[in-house]
Amino acid sequence: MRTLSGDLIAHRLSQAPAGALSKRLYDVLQTAIQQGAIATGSRLPASRDLAQELCVSRNTVLAAYEQLQSEGYLQTRTGSGTYVCEQLPETAPQASLSPSTSSAPFNHIRLSRRGTRVLARSGAGAYQWGAFMPGVPDVSHMPHDIWRKIQLRLSRRMPVEALSYSNHGGCLQLQQALAEYLRVSRSLNCAPEQILITAGTHQALDLVAKMLCDPGEGAWIEEPGYWGFRNVLAVNGVELLPTPVDDEGMLLPDLASFSQLQRPPVLICVTPSHQYPLGSVMSLQRRQQLLALAKSAGSWVIEDDYDGEFRFGESPVPALQGLSADAPVIYLGTFSKTLYPGLRLSYMVMPKPLAARMKMAHSELYRGGNGLAQLTLAEFIREGHYAAHVRRMRQLYSRRRAALVKVISDSLGPAFLSQQGNAGLHLILSLPERIDDVALAAELEQKGVLTRPLSAYYIQGTQRRGLLLGYACVEEQNMAETFAPVLHCLQRRLSPA
Ligand SMILES: Cc1ncc(COP(=O)(O)O)c(C=O)c1O
Repeated sequence: MRTLSGDLIAHRLSQAPAGALSKRLYDVLQTAIQQGAIATGSRLPASRDLAQELCVSRNTVLAAYEQLQSEGYLQTRTGSGTYVCEQLPETAPQASLSPSTSSAPFNHIRLSRRGTRVLARSGAGAYQWGAFMPGVPDVSHMPHDIWRKIQLRLSRRMPVEALSYSNHGGCLQLQQALAEYLRVSRSLNCAPEQILITAGTHQALDLVAKMLCDPGEGAWIEEPGYWGFRNVLAVNGVELLPTPVDDEGMLLPDLASFSQLQRPPVLICVTPSHQYPLGSVMSLQRRQQLLALAKSAGSWVIEDDYDGEFRFGESPVPALQGLSADAPVIYLGTFSKTLYPGLRLSYMVMPKPLAARMKMAHSELYRGGNGLAQLTLAEFIREGHYAAHVRRMRQLYSRRRAALVKVISDSLGPAFLSQQGNAGLHLILSLPERIDDVALAAELEQKGVLTRPLSAYYIQGTQRRGLLLGYACVEEQNMAETFAPVLHCLQRRLSPA
């Protein structure tokens, strides 16, 4: 059987200058690896297979492989084969690269100031699942069979519109199904026309920033708060105004001092149902105060209801948006936590006149689509599978949270579980101020345990130390064992030197 890398090697070998065959093969392989045409970490064909493909002797291939292995380009794994090393030798000879294929000119790409800011703030990990990655659901419980059946049924009679660009803020069936679901389960004031389907909350916020904020205008953001909001707003030139939170949510000034502000915020971004990352619920009094302030100054409240479905043992907290018919609220919801993040489906709920403009802008900027997934989701909701899945996952996460709480209380004591609500997909392991939570999280990552340091969620002001621990992907019976590396690294730091 011919392999992709075999084809590439055969082609390049046929173009290579004359010389000893094993030296030519060595040169071809080395250049292809240096250029990334054969990727680091990838498996090369077995020597016998490659020899057959190239019509050369196996010894010729073995000689080239061995030379590259001794130079640090290849490694063999017993019983598994020959692989390109993840880390290539830095002193790789450049002479064998022809000028036209050298990557040197691209070492000095000039990025825009905005682009530089995007990268300076980038924190997304390569792998975002498993213990104790905060904020990710247990995607292995997604009812794929039901999803697949619906999708198959729909794909047999796909309407043309579902295969084209979507120009109406997403497919109507999904807007209708969502409007009903949100009215019942999250107490929203919501008609289908108010809904715009987006490809993730970041896209929704990007649209908000581009359409509602001029560069230099301000947004109040929670301190501590979600890094994604900070990044998307800042990259759009919005001035970040960190505003501390307490047990009732964002701390707000009274109306009199608010009206004195020279430049009231254009946006006030909050997570009222479950403050991210500390976990408080915004009180009713604070909600009313927030709406009154926003109305008085013409600000928009951005309500990020990222995991409002997951409250355990208590009734759900209704959305802020539903408090009054003319609430100046842009409600952001996502299926990343209830279904799975890779689905990239989320939504905005806005007052109708704003929704109409945002839908037009969304079509201009991002060209919506993904019709089949949207139609499938609409049916999934309409037939009750979505509500059933959320119910099932709520019970599962509730048990997993309780298991982690018990492990922490038993091993470290309740002081390490600062006051926090009983909700969501993560909890905070509170740490004494002298513990460097950033260093602790880095050490744990080396051991394959993903956590996030609490101090990184603050822009300024009083920092609390802690670790965000996502428990959603850890089965109860494995909780103590999975927590053991965290406990071990922490105890070492806690014990006097
Ligand atoms: C607080 C908060 N809001 C929003 C999101 C983003 O969700 P999405 O996957 O829709 O971009 C996340 C994701 O982790 C989050 O933690």
